[in-house]
Amino acid sequence: MDVAFPLSRRGDVVPGECAWLREHRPIARVRTLTGDPAWLVSTYELATRVLRDETFSLSATALPNARNQYAPTFPLQVRNNMARISDRGARDAVMRALSPPVIKKATGGFRHKADALIDEMLAEGPPIDLKARFTDPYTASVMCAVLGLPDDDWRRLMSGLDIGIMTAPRPFQGAQANWDKGMSYMAKRLRAPGATDAPGLLGTLARLRAEHGGEEDADTDEYLTMTLHTLFEAGAVSTSAFLSLAIVLLLRDSEERRWLGDHPEAIGPAVEELLRYNLSIGDALSRIATQDTELGGVPIATGDLVLVLIEGANHDPAVFPDPDRLDLTRTPNPHLAFGDGRHYCPATALARAHAATALTTLLARLPDLRLAIPADEINWRSGWIKRTPERLPVLW
Ligand code: HEM
Repeated sequence: MDVAFPLSRRGDVVPGECAWLREHRPIARVRTLTGDPAWLVSTYELATRVLRDETFSLSATALPNARNQYAPTFPLQVRNNMARISDRGARDAVMRALSPPVIKKATGGFRHKADALIDEMLAEGPPIDLKARFTDPYTASVMCAVLGLPDDDWRRLMSGLDIGIMTAPRPFQGAQANWDKGMSYMAKRLRAPGATDAPGLLGTLARLRAEHGGEEDADTDEYLTMTLHTLFEAGAVSTSAFLSLAIVLLLRDSEERRWLGDHPEAIGPAVEELLRYNLSIGDALSRIATQDTELGGVPIATGDLVLVLIEGANHDPAVFPDPDRLDLTRTPNPHLAFGDGRHYCPATALARAHAATALTTLLARLPDLRLAIPADEINWRSGWIKRTPERLPVLW
């Protein structure tokens, strides 16, 4: 079997290639969209090895001549985002803004937003596009609350993602324009009078900027702007894609959905299982080998691109019994939805609270929520880093 990469963009069916790859070619030679050769790793054991072994480097994917998955849509150094957010006090500020106690305090506001959006949906009546009317505005609002940005700008902020994380074979002009537009919005927020008193991360970063002399230190100014901009993008895209797919999985499996509606106290393990099962990471996590090495008996050369297929690892029967069954009570559940090793997602508290609040509120208020169209007719977005439905028409 020749494996065409990336795999299908459909987000509700585990691609058949995953099982075949794990069994026959756990390290497979593929070509990426840019035509570069790469190694695709699909078992749990090899995935964790690559993510934990610093021979396989994320920072090296930002080197100018590195092999690529797709053409960059933002400056290369942003690929190693968290390593970049390491000085001038910004790392502590970011980690504090994303810490479990801060997120716990904000959760009442998330619930309030979810309720308000559902009130609007109820007032209009079904069918409604749940993505446009719930998952996108809810996600944007949660991100704005945590980062300290005004909720009213949500459409403009979310629209930046349409181009910002496209996966195209060649560079294109709109990518730079989109990046510049996002940066100039965040710069305006950081420089606004009173920004140092703003809530959330914005206020903290604006105070750091002031301590560094504001515009006089252009380098710090740009660095803090980029921090805010990239965190919004990384956060909004991951949470909205995951939430949309979690909803599709629950609506597709009416037995599990009803059970969760009757057992809201089980939302913790249920979210973990939805994280394991979901296919939102559409293009695998990439690393570059920084020295000659070996992986599962295959020689890997310095400079080789290694891609970790998260859905391969998360559906590996060696770790997850009956992996293609959605089991909302599954424990243990050592999934790799947040990665592993040095680059493990720093925002897991936010990601979990975002989804748990949205799902419990939706199921409590719309117990009869269901797809308005056959699942096979969902239009899945192509050319994007995540698998996500374009629209999610629902009834209740
Ligand atoms: C359901 C939601 C989310 C999922 C599934 C998710 C998943 C991931 C994964 C798989 C990685 C590892 C990438 C790699 O190893 O190459 C990662 C890293 C990262 N995530 Fe998340 N994420 C989520 C939400 C968020 C949010 C809300 C934010 C920010 C507010 C965020 C910020 C980051 C950052 C900055 C990194 C880079 C960490 C580093 O390089 O050390 N994520 N995330």
